[in-house]
Amino acid sequence: MKTVMLSVEKEADLQLAAELIRKGELVGIPTETVYGLGANGLDENAVRKIFAAKGRPADNPLILHIARPEQLEELCRDIPEKAWRLAERFWPGPLTMVLPVKPHIPKVTTANLDTLAVRCPKTEATRRLIELAGVPIAAPSANLSGKPSTTTARHVLKDMDGRIAAILDGGPCQVGVESTIVDLTGEKPRLLRPGGISPEELKEILGELLIDKAVLAQISHDEVVRAPGMKYKHYAPQAQVLIVKGSSAAAAAYVRENWSEGCAVMCFEEELPLYEGLSALAYGKAADVTTLSAGLFAALRELDREQIHTVYARCPEGGGVAYAVQNRLKKAAGFREIEVKEL
Ligand code: TXA
Ligand code: MG
Repeated sequence: MKTVMLSVEKEADLQLAAELIRKGELVGIPTETVYGLGANGLDENAVRKIFAAKGRPADNPLILHIARPEQLEELCRDIPEKAWRLAERFWPGPLTMVLPVKPHIPKVTTANLDTLAVRCPKTEATRRLIELAGVPIAAPSANLSGKPSTTTARHVLKDMDGRIAAILDGGPCQVGVESTIVDLTGEKPRLLRPGGISPEELKEILGELLIDKAVLAQISHDEVVRAPGMKYKHYAPQAQVLIVKGSSAAAAAYVRENWSEGCAVMCFEEELPLYEGLSALAYGKAADVTTLSAGLFAALRELDREQIHTVYARCPEGGGVAYAVQNRLKKAAGFREIEVKEL
């Protein structure tokens, strides 16, 4: 299959992408978080193609994307008041809600669960595409299963060339990490995955919020988890990632001491001078954490090279979107981190 590159700037391209979705084909789509691998979420065969193209385990359910918040009602039942309050505040935007699913949604989409994940993305062209297609678009992140998510059309092409009909180029993703997922089906709301909307922001609307243990620690493969995707190895280059905690100077001293051929550093822009002469890549500025979330996956992809066996990674502290960056980096590192002694 030849994968065609399309642009959100061209109306004819949006029309073509919508037609491909309607016909049951796969299209790489931009969103504000990461690129998605989109298909008609109501078409069982189209959804199956997503799992095949990614090499995704069938027990890992998909998010359905809608053009307008009200469309939530077409997909889910027993929607609590707090879901509508979240929608009003954060949609369109990087928030996914898990709610009881309506019976007409195919079982392949939900991986047989009785719940469904729904998101209304911020990217205008994508919402227009959903309107044009006339169906909710099922879209996991547009990467091969186990690889870091994609944040540019070029990255999507690298993983999906020949596997999907088209890629709609909307430029680089602004948020850079996947959406926040909150499960509203339990007695108390539960955070399943941190993302662009922080726990603090959610608590402003929800009052209380449980943090699922998959967010905080490694989950073993036979454990039952609420977000099945969280148990799989994720976001990782083939090298061993090790998070180095502590001041910039102490971390750099540690890295220099332990350096060998085949090591690399993933640090903040401000720290680059400390790593002069070593193979170092800055993924954003410590002073602006949104640049770190936006640059994270591109850096992990860049460092996914045969010759590199160890990646020393610097991780931002604190809440907000930094919390999501910490979560993705910890997963990439298999929760391996080291606190270095101050000099
Ligand atoms: O930002 C995003 O959410 C991106 C863009 C494309 O929208 N999508 C994305 O999809 O990250 P994916 O499939 O890579 O991650 C979705 C996560 C998986 O961990 C999956 O297990 C979980 O959501 N999930 C989906 N449906 C669920 C459900 N009904 N209950 C609990 N978790 C669910
Ligand atoms: Mg993913």
